[in-house]
Amino acid sequence: MSEPVIYLNNAATSWPKPERVIQKLVWAATELLATPGRGSAGVRSERVIFEAREAVADFVGAGDSSRIIFTCNATAALNLAISGFLAPGDHVVTTSMDHNSVARPLARMEDTRGVSVTRVEADSEGVVTSASVLDAVRPETALVILTHASNVTGTIQPVQEVSAGLRSRGEGRPRLLVDAAQTAGVFPIDVQAWGIDMLAVPGHKALYGPSGTGFLYLAPDLVLDPLFEGGTGGQSTLRRQPDLLPDRYESGTPNIPGIAALGEAVGYIREKGLEQIRRHETALFDLIVSGLEKIPGVTLFGPCDSRLQMAVVSFRLEGMDPAEVGSFLEETMGIQVRVGLHCSPMSHRTIGSFPEGTVRVSPGLFTTESDIAALIDGVRKIREVRGA
Ligand SMILES: Cc1ncc(COP(=O)(O)O)c(C=O)c1O
Repeated sequence: MSEPVIYLNNAATSWPKPERVIQKLVWAATELLATPGRGSAGVRSERVIFEAREAVADFVGAGDSSRIIFTCNATAALNLAISGFLAPGDHVVTTSMDHNSVARPLARMEDTRGVSVTRVEADSEGVVTSASVLDAVRPETALVILTHASNVTGTIQPVQEVSAGLRSRGEGRPRLLVDAAQTAGVFPIDVQAWGIDMLAVPGHKALYGPSGTGFLYLAPDLVLDPLFEGGTGGQSTLRRQPDLLPDRYESGTPNIPGIAALGEAVGYIREKGLEQIRRHETALFDLIVSGLEKIPGVTLFGPCDSRLQMAVVSFRLEGMDPAEVGSFLEETMGIQVRVGLHCSPMSHRTIGSFPEGTVRVSPGLFTTESDIAALIDGVRKIREVRGA
């Protein structure tokens, strides 16, 4: 990006990355030459990856860091959880706010593996109640999947209440998979205290790690079928994939620079403090909402209440396709937002913005108040230009 840009698409991936994360990425790409577990030169890489795994485990309250499986994004973590866990005849409860990285693997499970799925409808603001999720649980329900916060409306779902309800069912209860793509790095999450069985996290969004990173937390008593099998650097005489963690799920040469930089990013986020990050994003969110709602012809989606949602704002401008609004903002003001369906058509059906979708604004750690002022100005200008 050489042109000056106002980047308001942090829900897709965060930008820019903190300087120390970039430095770690470059250092690891330059210095860490060898695959971990493959010869003496790999020992340094192994140590750096172990440190990153410890940092990530501590950040989400995992305890044992071998329960953290590094992946290339949240999608890979969700695919591993869904297709590694479900068996024929299983029933799944999920919601209408799912991203396609949950919806599509589930659709394949329905079509090819005899899995049945109940999709609990959120209300028109994208809110799902814990009672509606728990009411949908049946004796054969094996898995409940919650999108911790929607990437379309930002709505935060009641993970802790659903978890408590599932745990009260005792032995044989359904397991809980949480997609934390829009919350990890802003909202505190503690997998053990909250009773989360599997947590899927991207490294490249609010954790401010590089693209090509993510992870799955897997509870101690869970064993999944690996998504892929191969060399793990140890137990090489075994005919089948070893049970040892995290090797069981991490075959082949990993993204060494990316993982090293993710560990650094987690340290950066911890130093900033989640409370402070959330406060910053909430202040920007309030500015976006209060600015947009004053512009005639703007329709805002979602609760528009920072207590109920993350800093993700979806809106439409009367008489205009969201794509036109996005092009205007980018071409005339250098403002980058994301338009359309945001890989979550179900969410747009739920809130009534299908098939055109919305214009989505998602500020981040480096967004300033003047960036938001420029956005509001830009949306006002569109109305002037259109003569509305
Ligand atoms: C709610 C949600 N889940 C999953 C994903 C997939 O994340 P990734 O791009 O890391 O695969 C996204 C990405 O936008 C998302 O917003």
